[in-house]
Amino acid sequence: MNIKINENFSLIKENYLFSDVAKRVNEFSKANGGRNIIKMGIGDVTLPLSSVVVSALAQASVEMGKAETFRGYPPEYGYDFLREAIKRHYLERGVVLRMDEIFVSDGAKSDIGNIVDILGKNDILIPDPVYPVYSDSNLMSGNKISFVKGCGENGFLPSPVGVEEKPYVIYMCSPNNPTGATYDRRGLKEWVDFALATGSLIVFDSAYEYFISDDKPHSIFEIDGARDCAIEICSLSKTAGFTGTRCGWTVIPEELSAGETKLIKLWQRRQATKFNGVSYPVQRAAEAALSTEGLAACREQIAYYRKNAAMISAVLSEKGVYFTGGVNSPYVWLKCPNGMGSWEFFDHLLKNARIVGTPGEGFGEMGKGYFRLTAFSSYENTLAAVERLRKIL
Ligand code: MLT
Repeated sequence: MNIKINENFSLIKENYLFSDVAKRVNEFSKANGGRNIIKMGIGDVTLPLSSVVVSALAQASVEMGKAETFRGYPPEYGYDFLREAIKRHYLERGVVLRMDEIFVSDGAKSDIGNIVDILGKNDILIPDPVYPVYSDSNLMSGNKISFVKGCGENGFLPSPVGVEEKPYVIYMCSPNNPTGATYDRRGLKEWVDFALATGSLIVFDSAYEYFISDDKPHSIFEIDGARDCAIEICSLSKTAGFTGTRCGWTVIPEELSAGETKLIKLWQRRQATKFNGVSYPVQRAAEAALSTEGLAACREQIAYYRKNAAMISAVLSEKGVYFTGGVNSPYVWLKCPNGMGSWEFFDHLLKNARIVGTPGEGFGEMGKGYFRLTAFSSYENTLAAVERLRKIL
């Protein structure tokens, strides 16, 4: 063919991190048999949807099968019933949103990737280590990226101190994927102040907010000034077990503008052209997940995963292995023992304990020598994994 392709794809790794992990596991399984492998790699949930969510999903599906209640294209920004439920969810945290600032999506990953559509050529600032979708999607668009470093000394919570003062699009994730480190109000305020002072935009990923068990902020909009500098992207994947059901949202405050142009207008336009909304049954399911009963079920599921995280953390403490996370997060982020590299430890763990984790360097340079385990396995598998870890650490 004589067409031109997006050459920027040559700047990203050949495979997405979790595809690489899956490939290595498949190769190992082919050579050694796949029995007894415990998967603690990708952050995919294992508990089924709660009964309140399943009832809503089932009832909405029945409605779709009757002429009187059938629905065609959903509104491109989401049904009002779900936007109302999301608005109420924020209000419980003292955050007041207008319904038209909420855009329902099929998950945080899509919107994190899509948001670059409404932004021009900007300097991008990304914490390292972090969810690789932020850097991959910006590299695909040919943007220049700088990293702020997370490390043991700053508890994997980099601050803007020392960052050159100019406008950036800043990506943040709190609780952080992969480290589980979570900003307190002061830490987030520093970033909001930096963004306001430099005319930067924060893209805040709050996908893990429901794991927060202390008084740390769940939303960037709990911080004064954030409405003037931040977009928030969230998802029900980890909160309500929607990794396979797919539903999330993006909040774009009305105030946000670049020059004369309101970002909300650009996003409305982008979504109307490129997105046809989330299916009616899934939006009803999401509404149910955010109801009082639904959120109680979410809390139960998160308590289950938190118990797994505590078991993983306990064996690491017992063995004197440095780690973060596991408290406000389903992820435990550990330093590979005996100076091993991330992929070296990945192979070691797979071979000697038949446990799959995620090599830290897949999340950035600062992840070299670190490793991520998820607490999203079943209790039984986590228990078995902990026994195996105890033997090999
Ligand atoms: C992860 O394991 O980091 C997440 O499951 C990936 C995602 O949410 O897309």
